[in-house]
Amino acid sequence: MKPEQKILADSASLIDAAAEHFVAAARAAIAKRGVFHVALAGGSTPKGLYQKLATSPYMEQIDWARVNLFFGDERCVLPTHADSNFKMVREAMIDRLPIPHKNVHRMPTEEGVAPDVAIRYGRKMQEVLADAPLDLVLLGLGSDGHIASLFPETAALEVVDAMTTSVYVEKFDSWRVTMTYPVINTARQVIVFIAGQAKADIVKDITTGAVQGLPVQRLDPQGEYYWFMDAAAAGQ
Ligand code: 6PG
Repeated sequence: MKPEQKILADSASLIDAAAEHFVAAARAAIAKRGVFHVALAGGSTPKGLYQKLATSPYMEQIDWARVNLFFGDERCVLPTHADSNFKMVREAMIDRLPIPHKNVHRMPTEEGVAPDVAIRYGRKMQEVLADAPLDLVLLGLGSDGHIASLFPETAALEVVDAMTTSVYVEKFDSWRVTMTYPVINTARQVIVFIAGQAKADIVKDITTGAVQGLPVQRLDPQGEYYWFMDAAAAGQ
């Protein structure tokens, strides 16, 4: 399934557009079902979006007590480590939100070996979601075409019978826990959030078909599917 591309002139307008879209998705889910289940991306790109969501007028437009925050992936480090996706999201957004602690579902990758943490997190997701799909999955895009921690040529790409898995990433010599294609593809909405000149090559390679079979290209969202980009990433 091809994504609907939303290309904004610069990073500030990209963040505003994505924040408005996020608020609209949250409000619609809460109005319809009384809850908004969202999986957040790690990395550096979405930090500005998270900061924006924790400011006016965006923060007040969401009933955060009805939001469940999940994480698309996590590095196997302490939640206080500089590489922790949770640390980035907590500092950029969570610490400023009126969201109950119980609604923030961190991947506790320091609490055991990655495979066990993945199993436990999958059980936690099933317990909270109760067979409902995620309402929104926010993803970044790696320069190698990975999403979450679904890295090229890893067994994580082939997992179809679990919502989460663990993956050893050779190039980083480190383990990660990640959501898998089944849980991402069944979400009501998937947004890949891409910004900056550094991503122009991978975006071009993918949109021109110069490369095939990358993890992001194996996404097959059953719901709405968007790429939110600034002009720099879109090569404009
Ligand atoms: C992670 C992310 C990962 C990220 C991409 C892009 O844990 O690193 O989940 O999938 O979104 O690597 O990272 P940047 O936004 O830092 O370019």
